[in-house]
Amino acid sequence: MASSLCLFLLYSVILQSAICVAAQTKSTIAIGDSHTAESNTSPWLLSPSGDFAFGFLPLNDTNLFLLSIWYAKISENTVVWYANGDSPAPKGSKVELNANDGLVLTSPNGVGLWNTTEVLNSGVSRGVFNDTGNFVLEDGDFNSLWETFKHPNDNLLPSQVLEKGVKLSSKLKERNFSKGRFELHLQNDGNLVMYSINLPSGYANENYYESQTVGSNKSSAGTQLVFDSSGELYVLRENNEKFNMSGKDGEDDDSSKVSTTDFYLRATLNLDGVFSLFKHPKSSTDSSGWTIVWSHPENICSYIAVAGSGVCGYNSVCTLGDDKRPRCQCPKSYSLVDPDDPYGSCKPDFIQGCVEDDLYDFEILTETDWPLSDYVSQKPFTEEQCRKSCLEDCFCSVAIFRTDSCWKKKLPLSNGIYDGSTLGDAKAFLKVRKDNTSIIVNKNNNRGTLVLVVSVLFGSSAILNAVLIVAICVSTSMILQYEKKLRRVSRSDTSVETNLRYFTYKELEKAANGFDKELGRGSFGIVYEGVINNNTSSETRVAVKKLNNFLLDQAHKEFRNEVNGIGLTHHKNLVRLLGFCEGGSERLLVYEYMSNGTLAKFLFNSSDKKQRPSWKLRLEIAIGVARGLVYLHEECITRIIHCDIKPQNILLDDNFNARISDFGLAKLLNMNESKTNTGIRGTKGYVAVEWFKNMPITTMVDVYSYGVVLLEIISCRRCVQEMDQGEEEKAILTDWAYDCYRDGAVDALVEGDNEALDDKGKLEKLVMIAIWCVQEDPVLRPSMRNVIHMLEGTVEVQVPPYPSPVSIQYSLI
Ligand SMILES: *[C@@H]1O[C@H](CO)[C@@H](O)[C@H](O)[C@H]1NC(C)=O
Ligand SMILES: *[C@@H]1O[C@H](CO)[C@@H](O)[C@H](O)[C@H]1NC(C)=O
Ligand SMILES: *[C@@H]1O[C@H](CO)[C@@H](O)[C@H](O)[C@H]1NC(C)=O
Ligand SMILES: *[C@@H]1O[C@H](CO)[C@@H](O)[C@H](O)[C@H]1NC(C)=O
Ligand SMILES: *[C@@H]1O[C@H](CO)[C@@H](O)[C@H](O)[C@H]1NC(C)=O
Ligand SMILES: *[C@@H]1O[C@H](CO)[C@@H](O)[C@H](O)[C@H]1NC(C)=O
Ligand SMILES: *[C@@H]1O[C@H](CO)[C@@H](O)[C@H](O)[C@H]1NC(C)=O
Ligand SMILES: *[C@@H]1O[C@H](CO)[C@@H](O)[C@H](O)[C@H]1NC(C)=O
Ligand SMILES: *[C@@H]1O[C@H](CO)[C@@H](O)[C@H](O)[C@H]1NC(C)=O
Ligand SMILES: *[C@@H]1O[C@H](CO)[C@@H](O)[C@H](O)[C@H]1NC(C)=O
Ligand SMILES: *[C@@H]1O[C@H](CO)[C@@H](O)[C@H](O)[C@H]1NC(C)=O
Ligand SMILES: *[C@@H]1O[C@H](CO)[C@@H](O)[C@H](O)[C@H]1NC(C)=O
Repeated sequence: MASSLCLFLLYSVILQSAICVAAQTKSTIAIGDSHTAESNTSPWLLSPSGDFAFGFLPLNDTNLFLLSIWYAKISENTVVWYANGDSPAPKGSKVELNANDGLVLTSPNGVGLWNTTEVLNSGVSRGVFNDTGNFVLEDGDFNSLWETFKHPNDNLLPSQVLEKGVKLSSKLKERNFSKGRFELHLQNDGNLVMYSINLPSGYANENYYESQTVGSNKSSAGTQLVFDSSGELYVLRENNEKFNMSGKDGEDDDSSKVSTTDFYLRATLNLDGVFSLFKHPKSSTDSSGWTIVWSHPENICSYIAVAGSGVCGYNSVCTLGDDKRPRCQCPKSYSLVDPDDPYGSCKPDFIQGCVEDDLYDFEILTETDWPLSDYVSQKPFTEEQCRKSCLEDCFCSVAIFRTDSCWKKKLPLSNGIYDGSTLGDAKAFLKVRKDNTSIIVNKNNNRGTLVLVVSVLFGSSAILNAVLIVAICVSTSMILQYEKKLRRVSRSDTSVETNLRYFTYKELEKAANGFDKELGRGSFGIVYEGVINNNTSSETRVAVKKLNNFLLDQAHKEFRNEVNGIGLTHHKNLVRLLGFCEGGSERLLVYEYMSNGTLAKFLFNSSDKKQRPSWKLRLEIAIGVARGLVYLHEECITRIIHCDIKPQNILLDDNFNARISDFGLAKLLNMNESKTNTGIRGTKGYVAVEWFKNMPITTMVDVYSYGVVLLEIISCRRCVQEMDQGEEEKAILTDWAYDCYRDGAVDALVEGDNEALDDKGKLEKLVMIAIWCVQEDPVLRPSMRNVIHMLEGTVEVQVPPYPSPVSIQYSLI
């Protein structure tokens, strides 16, 4: 009896002290106050009304903690703000208020995990936890120095304001608070946008939502995203008008009005990229939990990010729910790479190799498509032909059949979408392995190592074991090949897809200011000047090329392939392609901006011969062009014949380096498949004879054009020029140059150019190289690599023959 009384007393003491601890939880802290991350501790602070708590919350792994703010009165630990999402705090970590640095979070072994650097040395006096859920660091005069409301993560609360330039960032996973794949950003132009980013670089893809609150004659630009204390969320414009987020297109919608006295409200950028207003009843008797009031955008599944997997992971399929949130699902015979990440990628549960096709069958999915993953399309085709073609092709993982067209696609599949309204007649034939009884993919190993059922090995005969071992060897080598293939495919995929940015037409129209400043016109289209935000904060000058409509006849895929090929070429003597647009009937390419214009302008600007650009600089340019051509011809992944080398297509950058442009557009010709030429490409004066005769088009056509350009660089005159009477023999530069060379009078080519005349040996050598290049017989022309060797002097230049032997001249006609 006594002992039970004792126990009771002890119990009450413990209970009382627990109550005391709870009662002691305060809403203000002073300098020197600290809090330690331990299991089962109460929060550090509570807001005065007790609605919000501030302290350490254990993550899934209970040895890690998140310094955060959450709702104290509801059972779900809904986190509204967190400090150290990227560096969770180990058990025993301490957060302390310090006068110089504000809040400082350190791990038990003294490593700084996070702090409020911005208040550095500004004399913090106290921390105040406001009833709104805002934690504020104040100085001695009660001025706010730092607020959690000004450093949001993925959440906004009533009375919180998002200023221009500030972003919301989604979480990575449900219980992983690292930076996720989506951002909401009130841009400096007032536009509220949402877009996906490529992790880990943070490179921003095109947006999938925009409020269009940019300034113009008709509308006033946005200045803030305001979540007011009554629960209205709107973009406040400069003229104080409101763009309401609640209704569709900013129209007011009373049905979505929620009382902040009865409900907790939060606006969250979910980890699936959807921005939603959530409500939760404050009353403890109502158990409805968090429900969605409204969401943006309308349909996130239809957002096709060219760089990346789309909203769902690779090989996954996105279905839009009634709440406008995406559901990601792996197709049959595929499963999640990370079972805890339903928005992640899916992997096949079987190994697909180049073995007999009777091992495979099709899973038929209706109204489903992976729009960007095709490597070939065929038309007209019947459904049966489509199936057969995919079955017999070991690269084919899925074939989409629609009316009379068949698209074959390879892994990994991206931007998967299920949509009955737009894909009604599309059928996806997903290739799966018929019989997976003998093969199990080890779920712990994402690389798909084969594991055979061990009991079979132990329990069966030696012969059977031998058979099984052979089977293991065979399948392992199959997997290695498969993996090699997969790696190769995915490497080229990522380099293609991460380098080039996909623009919408609207974006480029804006970037080029309505295409008002023309930089030049070429055979492929008109080039305009523009400015893009490459990272939503920095600006880059670009050249936007609007392609002529002739390209539009080409299949969609062909354009994309060519653009991807161009995107893979990087060289300091080539103009870099930054991105492209393929919207409706328009095709546009976005290039680096070249500040010093074309070589043509540079060479032919001055009629005064004494005003020629420096000889030294001209030599550098000649070598630069040659280097760019060597790269195109021999070094880049898809060899490219330019077909239209001329001074108008050679640009000069800030440092007057020669940069070749317009390459790759005339079709990426493979070296030996080039016989079928579909009409002359190139420009009069620069084109080689092959174009006029039934001869294969090879890299030698570029060598010819280079020779002409080299003569132009030497003489600073155009290759064909009207001459005064008595000087007609000079009209065609190539002929005149040969005559001068033959007569030992190369000086005439650079008349008045003292710099060049002083460098006569070099001058004569250059003329000889040029004459080699313009030989009408392509076999006699040197390769561009040889040209470089000759220019650099590592190879002696031989005496060139007459470039237009009679036989060829006559056979031309
Ligand atoms: C993580 O926590 C969630 C919810 O608290 C739980 O459903 C899940 O099983 C946990 N996962 C692990 C790996 O502990
Ligand atoms: C605060 O963080 C910054 C960078 O994150 C670090 O350089 C600085 O040393 C930290 N200060 C303290 C007091 O930990
Ligand atoms: C704290 O909240 C009250 C209303 O609850 C508000 O009037 C006050 O401005 C807030 N203070 C700060 C610093 O946010
Ligand atoms: C969250 O995910 C990132 C990236 O996968 C990982 O590095 C980090 O350890 C994860 N954090 C936690 C707490 O699991
Ligand atoms: C984007 O800009 C931010 C700063 O505004 C910078 O930290 C980040 O590295 C940039 N990312 C890229 C890919 O340029
Ligand atoms: C917008 O205003 C500017 C100057 O105020 C004017 O030049 C321009 O034509 C206007 N544009 C439209 C579409 O009204
Ligand atoms: C936005 O909502 C406010 C308050 O409900 C309303 O007064 C205003 O007219 C609405 N604005 C628009 C453009 O619908
Ligand atoms: C084959 O794999 C699928 C997907 O993992 C599974 O559902 C099915 O049961 C397997 N079939 C057999 C015969 O094991
Ligand atoms: C972004 O712009 C900066 C400066 O204009 C430039 O150095 C950088 O290469 C650009 N990045 C991309 C990805 O275009
Ligand atoms: C073209 O010539 C004019 C005058 O002769 C000169 O001012 C200008 O800088 C030249 N432009 C180039 C690109 O050389
Ligand atoms: C060449 O480009 C540089 C850098 O942009 C610029 O300062 C210079 O004026 C340009 N020269 C000409 C002739 O345009
Ligand atoms: C191209 O053709 C030449 C001779 O016609 C041959 O030697 C070479 O191997 C071929 N190259 C390719 C890539 O087919």
